[in-house]
Amino acid sequence: MSMSSLNIAQLRAQFPILQQQVNAKPLIYFDNAATTQKPYAVINAITDFYTQCNANVHRGAHHLSNESTTRFEHARDTVACFMHAANRKEIIWTSGTTEGINIVAHGIAKQLRPGDEVLVTQMEHHANLVTWQQACAQSGASLKIAPIDDDGTLNIDAFVALLSTNTKLVAFPHISNALGTINPIKTLTAQAKKVGALVLIDGAQGIAHAKVDVVDIGCDFYVFSAHKLFGPTGIGVLWGKESVLKNWPVWQTGGEMIANVTYETATWGELPNRLEAGTPNIAGAIGLAAAVEWFSQLDLHALQHHEHALLKHATEQAHNFDGLTIVGNAPEKVAVLSFVLQGCHSADIGFLLDQQGIAIRSGDHCAQPLMRRLTLPGTARASFSIYNTIEEVDAFFIALKKVHQMLI
Ligand SMILES: Cc1ncc(COP(=O)(O)O)c(C=O)c1O
Repeated sequence: MSMSSLNIAQLRAQFPILQQQVNAKPLIYFDNAATTQKPYAVINAITDFYTQCNANVHRGAHHLSNESTTRFEHARDTVACFMHAANRKEIIWTSGTTEGINIVAHGIAKQLRPGDEVLVTQMEHHANLVTWQQACAQSGASLKIAPIDDDGTLNIDAFVALLSTNTKLVAFPHISNALGTINPIKTLTAQAKKVGALVLIDGAQGIAHAKVDVVDIGCDFYVFSAHKLFGPTGIGVLWGKESVLKNWPVWQTGGEMIANVTYETATWGELPNRLEAGTPNIAGAIGLAAAVEWFSQLDLHALQHHEHALLKHATEQAHNFDGLTIVGNAPEKVAVLSFVLQGCHSADIGFLLDQQGIAIRSGDHCAQPLMRRLTLPGTARASFSIYNTIEEVDAFFIALKKVHQMLI
């Protein structure tokens, strides 16, 4: 089905989970930054795989194995095309964003020396912070943190000032999960390249909201998780430039990733296998490709327009809500409304909204240092996706009023 503009009712009908009631109320799912729901296209692709051709890949001994291998490698082509990778070998299957970052950090830790620096930002998810802390601790390199302004925008001047020839790797999020800030990834990459640093972009939140063309961006690594792109959990992608990845230290050892093995030693295979030890998540890769195909049929401009309308409407309502403060007011942001409500704990807000069938996230959003920077224990976060509606936003604010009255 091709959708040149968004028909939200038609789109919602493709998500079986959205049809249900929670606590005797129609489900309103506003926790899309944590994970997105899955359309039939994805669910059916995974079911088809298990019902029609489940077998291990790259064994080639029988019909099912050949069919499974064909679908699995076709999935790699689909993702390579989606990200505009120069080569299919640059697509490495991972378990998700976190593993992708760990593969890169594990490799860089072997190359870093005392005096070298890794630069990240104040808005990192723990996945893109703790990994670099560990890499620096292991190698004696230093971790530098680029500050944000109070509205949640990355301070570009400060970022640039922290770059030097000592900077070996720069890592930053495409979009902040806690604040919704969209970073100028091309500009940041270009600046990092001036000092010769490798650039990793944490695309966990970016992949479902923007066009990702890795050649155009100019970075070295872009990582994401399928589950934030309407795909299954347990699968993700590390895209890396072939010239960088082909000599990258191996991550795990075992089957699939070797060239030749004796009792004494082993040599490593070629990309992408050398970074994919063991039986891969075959159904996951096929499910991710189905998600990519499904997502690619949407009109990206219509999608962005719809999500922006949801954010604008929610922001206006929030400004008129006594006691509510929005956390994250960057001029460039996606449809994430992080907020605090005077006198209310974010966990209580989440719990009481759930009683009314509304799913949001509350807490530190895996960004404790960022919360400390903002001097907040946490926030409540409503994050919208393409299947959400203005009516749901209105229902959310009516429910939030009730919650507020109960809590103060
Ligand atoms: C910005 C960002 N980075 C990294 C992650 C980690 O993703 P995953 O848990 O799928 O590995 C998340 C998850 O919320 C995220 O939002």
